[in-house]
Amino acid sequence: MKLTYFAHSAFALKTEDHCILFDPFITNNPRATIPVDDITDVTHIFITHGHGDHIGDTVELAKRWNPQIICNYELGHHLSTMGVENIHTMHIGGRSKLDFATVKMTPALHGSGILKDGEFITGGVACGFLVEIEGKKIYHAGDTGLTIEMQLLTDEDIDVALLPIGGNYTMDIADAVKAVTMIKPKLVIPMHYNTFGPIEADPQDFARQVTGAKVTVLDFGQTIEI
Ligand code: NI
Ligand code: MN
Repeated sequence: MKLTYFAHSAFALKTEDHCILFDPFITNNPRATIPVDDITDVTHIFITHGHGDHIGDTVELAKRWNPQIICNYELGHHLSTMGVENIHTMHIGGRSKLDFATVKMTPALHGSGILKDGEFITGGVACGFLVEIEGKKIYHAGDTGLTIEMQLLTDEDIDVALLPIGGNYTMDIADAVKAVTMIKPKLVIPMHYNTFGPIEADPQDFARQVTGAKVTVLDFGQTIEI
């Protein structure tokens, strides 16, 4: 399967039958190199929390492609009020066998408020996702600080971990390096850095510091086979 990194925490995972997006923040993402109109035949969208840089283009993509949206219960309710119909809600710690993948919603230490008309409304709590699809386990951490709960992921035998490294709102490089030692994935891909000022970080510095896992730093817009 193919993994595309748009920038920030936005990824596409493409298999023969599915185009699965994570946190599709494309249109207002200053680092995105692929226009949202080039993202087609979307079958699923995972959203880790209610912040604008993670909901991103979800509503527009949902109306265009009618993908199944997977998110927490509160965020799911919000999206339904925005006219989105195909929503599967879950909550922290829940595992679900969906028709395309087995999905577990993992804890994340972060907020999830949704900014709507200048006011914050509840978006539940932030999460990450562990997605088991076609024999591969992929972990998208969402926005999170370093948390001891990550030790529980060791037993999952994760193939690919997508971890924030930008600091300020999430783990910085030093904490993300510690997270790798807890999670023990085969491959790590850093995310959530260099999109805007407060989250500047050098992903090559992260790559140099990680031990025990392979690190691949993706260019914005790059696609790799995983
Ligand atoms: Ni956030
Ligand atoms: Mn964020």
